[in-house]
Amino acid sequence: MNAKADDPKIIDGKAFAAGLRSKIATALADLKHKNGLVPGLAVVLVGEDPASQVYVRNKARQTVEVGMISFEHKLPVDTREEDVLELVERLNNDDRVHGILVQLPLPDQIDTNKVIGTIDPSKDVDGFNVINAGRLATGQDALVPCTPVGCVMLAKDRLGDLSGVNAVVVGRSNIVGKPVAQLLLKENCTVTIAHSRTKDLPGLCRTAELLIAAVGRPEMIRGDWIRPGACVIDVGINRIATDEGKTRLVGDGAFQEAYEVAGAITPVPGGVGPMTIACLLFNTVRAACVSANVDVPEILKSL
Ligand SMILES: NC(=O)c1ccc[n+]([C@@H]2O[C@H](COP(=O)([O-])OP(=O)(O)OC[C@H]3O[C@@H](n4cnc5c(N)ncnc54)[C@H](OP(=O)(O)O)[C@@H]3O)[C@@H](O)[C@H]2O)c1
Repeated sequence: MNAKADDPKIIDGKAFAAGLRSKIATALADLKHKNGLVPGLAVVLVGEDPASQVYVRNKARQTVEVGMISFEHKLPVDTREEDVLELVERLNNDDRVHGILVQLPLPDQIDTNKVIGTIDPSKDVDGFNVINAGRLATGQDALVPCTPVGCVMLAKDRLGDLSGVNAVVVGRSNIVGKPVAQLLLKENCTVTIAHSRTKDLPGLCRTAELLIAAVGRPEMIRGDWIRPGACVIDVGINRIATDEGKTRLVGDGAFQEAYEVAGAITPVPGGVGPMTIACLLFNTVRAACVSANVDVPEILKSL
C-alpha cells in the first residue's frame, strides 16, 4: 500500500520536517536581523560512499536553503587519520563554524571514536560525542542525535504529553536506540529498551502504547506485535529487492500489517527519514545561539 499523506493514521514526517525547516528559516532571519548571527555548518566526508554523498549533498542544500552557511570538506578515501583530526581541530577553532558533522561510516584506517571525540562538544551537532551522550543520560542540556530528536518530535506532535506512556524501543545503538530511550525518559515515558537478546519480543512490543523500531531488519515487526491503537515510529531504512528485479525502501515494521492495527504510524519513506536533516539544522541553530550567548528563538523553543 502507498501511504497517503492526508490519511489521519499516517504520521507525515515529510510535511512535519518542511514545517520545521520553515520555522528555522524564520528564526534565522530574525537572528541575522537582531544579532547579526548567521550559523555555519561544516560537513566532512571522507571517501566516495554513494549513500553518504547523497546525504552530504542534501545536508548542504538544506543548510543554505534555510539561510545558514554550509562548509563542505570532501577528502579522498585514503586520507590519514591525523589529517582528519587536524581538519576537525581547525573547524573547532573557526568562529564561522557552529556545527561540525563528520559523515559516517569512515574508512577503516580512521578511528571513528577518536574523530568524534575530537569534535568540540559545543559544535557536535550530531550529538555523538561522549560529553553530549553523558549530558543527555544525566538529564542535562545536550546536543542530541538528530534522528532520535525527530522521532520524539513526531511522537509528541501525535500523542501530545507523553507522560506515563508505555514506550518500547527496539534497538540499543548509540545513534538511535539509546538516545531515543533517554529522550522518552525525559518526557516521563515508562521506557523498555529491547535488543537481539530480548525474550518474547512480540509480547513485549504488544505492551507498547508507543513503539519505536530501530532495528535495521526489513519488516521484522509484524502486525500482531502491535498493540491496537498504538503509535508506531519506524526508524528503519532498508533496501530490499522486489519481484520485478528492482529495489524499494522498507522499514523495520511490516507496514501494511502494522497500519491495520496501529492508531498512528510513520511510513517508510516519508516518516522519520526527512526529520533527520531538519533536526540537524535545528541543532546547529541551537549550538550557534549558545556560542553567541543569544536566546534560542521563541519559535523553536516549544519543540
Ligand atoms: N535518518 C534515519 O531515518 C535513520 C538514521 C539512523 C538509522 N536509521 C535506520 O534505523 C535502523 C537502525 O539503525 P541503527 O544504526 O540503530 O542500527 P544498529 O546499530 O545496527 O542497531 C540495531 C539494533 O537492533 C537490534 N537488533 C538487531 N536484530 C534484532 C532482532 N532480531 N531482535 C531484536 N533486536 C535486534 C540490535 O541488538 P544488539 O544490540 O543486541 O545487537 C541493535 O541494538 C536501520 O534500518 C537504519 O538504516 C535511519
